[in-house]
Formats: sequence, C-alpha cells, structure tokens
Amino acid sequence: MRRTRPRLIGALATALLATGVGAGPPAQANSAPAATTSAQTAPAPAKKQPTLAELARRQGRYFGSATDNPELTDTAYTALLGREFDMITPGNGMKWYATEPRQGVFDWTNGDEIVGLARAHHQRVRAHTLVWHSQLPDWLTGRDWTPDELRAVLKKHILAEVGHYRGKVYSWDVVNEAFNEDGSYRDTLWYRTLGPGYIADALRWAHQADPRAKLYLNDYNIDGVGAKSDAYYRLAKDLLARGVPLDGIGLQAHLALQYGYPATLEDNLRRFSGLGLDTALTEVDVRMQLPADAAKLATQAQWYRELTAACLAVRRCVGVTVWDYTDKYSWIPAVFPGEGAALPWDEQLRPKPAYAAIRQALGGGQPLS
Ligand code: G3I
Repeated sequence: MRRTRPRLIGALATALLATGVGAGPPAQANSAPAATTSAQTAPAPAKKQPTLAELARRQGRYFGSATDNPELTDTAYTALLGREFDMITPGNGMKWYATEPRQGVFDWTNGDEIVGLARAHHQRVRAHTLVWHSQLPDWLTGRDWTPDELRAVLKKHILAEVGHYRGKVYSWDVVNEAFNEDGSYRDTLWYRTLGPGYIADALRWAHQADPRAKLYLNDYNIDGVGAKSDAYYRLAKDLLARGVPLDGIGLQAHLALQYGYPATLEDNLRRFSGLGLDTALTEVDVRMQLPADAAKLATQAQWYRELTAACLAVRRCVGVTVWDYTDKYSWIPAVFPGEGAALPWDEQLRPKPAYAAIRQALGGGQPLS
C-alpha cells in the first residue's frame, strides 16, 4: 500500500500546486513563520515539502483528519484531504442514526463512501462511533426498553457494523463520552438501562466482530489530569484487569483559547501508556472568540505545536487527528456562536500559522522556499 503513495502524493501535489490549493497566502497577518511565506514566491514542484502524514510517519505516528460526506463534493477540499493526511475519521457517517436508521435495517452508504475515499488515498480509518448518547435514531430513543431488549439491540448493532467494516478500519471508538465532568457515569440510555457493564459488553462484541481492530474509549475534557480523566484511568485499569479487550483511550482535545491549554496533557498520555494502552488525540481543534487576529492565531499555533509534541513525547501515543482540517467545515460556529477559526487551514483552505507549527513539531522545520 505504502509503495504507491509517493506517486499518488506527487500527482496530487502537482495538481494542487497547479490550482494553488494549500499553498495560498497566509489567512491573517501573523508573527509566526507560516508555511505560506514560501507560497508567495511560488515554490517549484521539485522541492515539494513532505506532508503532515509523511512527517508523522517518520516519527512512527499518523496525522489524521475527520471528514463528512456532504463535503466530499468539494474537490479542492478532498484533494488536500487526500494529500496531507494518512488517517481519516468519518465525522458523522458511521454514527447510529446513519447506519441503522430503522431497527434492523442497516445503511452503510456514508461510511462506505468515506472508507472508499480513504482507501483510494492509501489512508487508514479511525471508525467513529458505536455507543454514544447522541445522534441516535428516533426508533431507539422514542420508547422504553427492558435491559434484555436493549442489550440485544446493542449487540446486534455492534456485530453488524463492526462486522461490515471488519478488516477495513484501523480502530473503533467503541464507547464515546461515557462520563460526566465530575467522573460519574453519564446518565444515558445505555447506562440507565444496562448499568456500567454496557462498556465491557460493547468492547467484547466489537472484538468478536473484528479481532484486529484497535478498540478505544473516547471523550472530551479528558486531555489533562482531572476528575474525568481519572475516571477513565480507573475504568481502563479495571477493564484490563478483567481481560476486557481495550486497546486505547482517545483524548478528543476540543480546546478553546479562553479556557487555557491542558498543561498536564503529556503526563496524562503517559499514565495511560503506563497501563499498556495506546492513546491518541482524536478530535483536535483549538477554537477562539471571533474575530481571529494575529495574536490569537499565534497562540493557537503554539497550542497545536505543544499538543503534537506531547504526543510525540509519549511512546504509545499513536497519532493526532484534527476534527476536520479547515474552518470551512468546522462544527464549532454552529454550536458555539461567536467562536471558530479552530483548525489549521482557514475557510479558503489556506494554511494558518497552526499548520507551520504542527510541521515544526513533527520535525519538518521551516517550509521550503
Ligand atoms: O443530517 C442533518 C441534515 O439533514 C440537516 O439538513 C442539517 C441541518 O442543520 O443537519 C444535519 O444534521 C447535523 C449533523 O451533524 C450532520 O451534518 C446536525 O444538525 C449537527 O448537529 C451534527 O453535528 C455533528 C455533531 O457531532 C453532533 O453532536 C458534527 O457534524 C460532528 O462533527 C460532531 O462530532 C462530535 C463527535 O462525534 C464526538 N465528539 C464531539 C464532536 C463535536 O461535537
């Protein structure tokens, strides 16, 4: 698979340079030496700089992006997505509402489209997500279930979905967002009806359906050490002691400039490694109050540099995924009015200072001129 990549990247890079995609001028004035300064002097294709994926691979890591089906008609967007990353997460296409819209009726259309695109670009897939309280179909949330009924529904869904993608995905976010901020279990359909044992059950069923997929628990606000990440630490330790198939903890890392950088991120990654688990930064974005300005973008770049370096510093941190790569398709403005500009590329697909900072952290140095 990897043997064909340089040729593919070369072809894509040539096409991108021809259209100017990914090589435009900086989004905002900034003090950081952005990747874009080189673009102003029109770099020659022969001097093509390594992609984030290539830089990450040299460090034994991947660098990924989420994507979503409606965006895939945007050819400039998909070209950059196919070029710069080596791990893809479907932002919505594999969630329950999309994959089992009616009970027992499965629809793999959106997930398959993204897996197909990833394969065409020789990228792997972090599959997301099997058990969550959000984006569930009405048939599931609109009635009461006995524990036996719901357990059967969950088992069938996991076996069907993981079975469908068996051998085609690198990992699964098996359970997403299971805890509250104080470390207590989140009161979800699953917890309410099945008790905390649903997590071990889900992991076992996923393992049964695809023994080679890496199985993760994934959450936000567990980037630093604290009550919520402590809950994952305790749970992971307990699951491993009981022989439950758990491979990793996903730290979503939805960060916001106004709340500060999670200074204990590296320590936190390291303690999960100490349990023998993989870790990954799975949904990274760094939002800010709009409008963006040079100072905010510089701070954002510094955070991207630091979180990338934190992952590199911890052996079992396997990679970093941004929650889509361009502000054009970020989920932030719809959910946090007045906030945004969270990703390393701006809405015109121009790299921001954060892009250069990530490159630097990955050992890429300054862009070629
Ligand atoms: O499917 C409907 C479409 O029919 C309708 O026209 C459109 C109008 O707004 O909405 C569409 O649904 C949207 C859906 O994404 C698919 O695009 C929902 O409104 C929107 O709320 C939903 O947002 C997703 C969000 O999860 C839901 O919580 C985001 O795209 C997705 O990026 C986000 O991802 C989550 C991770 O799965 C878990 N961690 C947090 C992260 C951010 O919220």
